[in-house]
Amino acid sequence: MTPPLIDPFARMIEYLRVSVTDRCDFRCVYCMAENMTFLPKKELLTLEELDRMCSAFIRLGVKKLRITGGEPLVRRDIMTFFRGMTRHLEDGSLTELTLTSNGSQLERFADDLFAAGVRRINISLDTLDDAKFAQITRWGRLPQVLRGIDTAQKAGLRVKINTVALQGFNEDELFTLTDWCASRDIDLTFIEVMPMGDLGNEDRLGQYWSLKDLRAQLAQQYTLTDLTERTGGPARYVQIAQTGQKIGFITPLSHNFCESCNRVRITCTGEIYTCLGQEGHSDLRGPLRASEADVDLENAIRAAIALKPKGHDFDYSRQQVDGQVSRHMSHTGG
Ligand code: GTP
Ligand code: 5AD
Ligand code: SF4
Repeated sequence: MTPPLIDPFARMIEYLRVSVTDRCDFRCVYCMAENMTFLPKKELLTLEELDRMCSAFIRLGVKKLRITGGEPLVRRDIMTFFRGMTRHLEDGSLTELTLTSNGSQLERFADDLFAAGVRRINISLDTLDDAKFAQITRWGRLPQVLRGIDTAQKAGLRVKINTVALQGFNEDELFTLTDWCASRDIDLTFIEVMPMGDLGNEDRLGQYWSLKDLRAQLAQQYTLTDLTERTGGPARYVQIAQTGQKIGFITPLSHNFCESCNRVRITCTGEIYTCLGQEGHSDLRGPLRASEADVDLENAIRAAIALKPKGHDFDYSRQQVDGQVSRHMSHTGG
């Protein structure tokens, strides 16, 4: 039997996040600069190479595969790739095939995603206000995303909203967002803003809204019960007694979760980042292209995982931004 992927801190790697494009049709202000230079298409792994890469990880024990970007649904022919992954769900080697999306393309793709075996989708949405949405995404249109969410639910996909908690931006929408999700049977996860990428004019400290505070505000209005169930991702969940809904908290700053990390990331050019919050990475495109032999790629994957660091060094506690990494979130898709 193939030995599982275990990192130097005895963590088993079962979750692969794959960015299939660095492009996005939005430019969220905390994620990308307005004038990003995107990679030439020839740099990207082809759909066949992405399939080979993911299949190698699945052979090595990955059970959960999340497709990210940029915006994964702007990659040309991406449904061909999703349909290719269906075979791993059918033979039981993969337990979840899913994606994180900005929702803009879902009206077109929701049915196809369901047909390919996707059952759950995470959609980024930081505000329910049209003008604020246009401001945070620089030019996104909220109604298009809301229609996408609707289509996804109608297609049978379970929807989870990801909201980056931003001081001075969406604090006033905490209850609006929570109630809106409850009324639509949508799960909601809040994320603390991380110092990824130098965006020039961002004020990470000023933007930071600790989820400890957010949770305390929720607890003033609702009865919260901690849930022990996890999705294999970094969120910890509570249930709101009054509505029955589940709220997740992703707290890299206020409550580090690296100890239970089970994931690695592949960029659209075939680099592996074994930690979101560190610069270190290895090249897998070279080994993938150098040899038809899967064993060479598998060895390169094992060698990269042997270098996985203990965790990130993000820290705002000294009233300054420590541990910032230079690449943008869109490079590794969160
Ligand atoms: P579920 O399967 O629903 O649990 O999803 P997930 O939380 O694993 O995936 P999603 O893409 O929705 O992740 C939400 C955000 O959490 C990401 O965009 C990142 O901002 C953050 N995140 C995910 N994994 C990590 C991680 O390993 N470290 C840190 N610091 N943040 C992470
Ligand atoms: N900090 C935290 N979350 C971020 N995201 C993008 N940039 C950041 C950041 N700097 C989130 C998006 C989306 C996911 C891909 O990552 O909102 O939910
Ligand atoms: Fe695009 Fe998502 Fe980044 Fe926004 S957060 S710019 S939607 S990748």
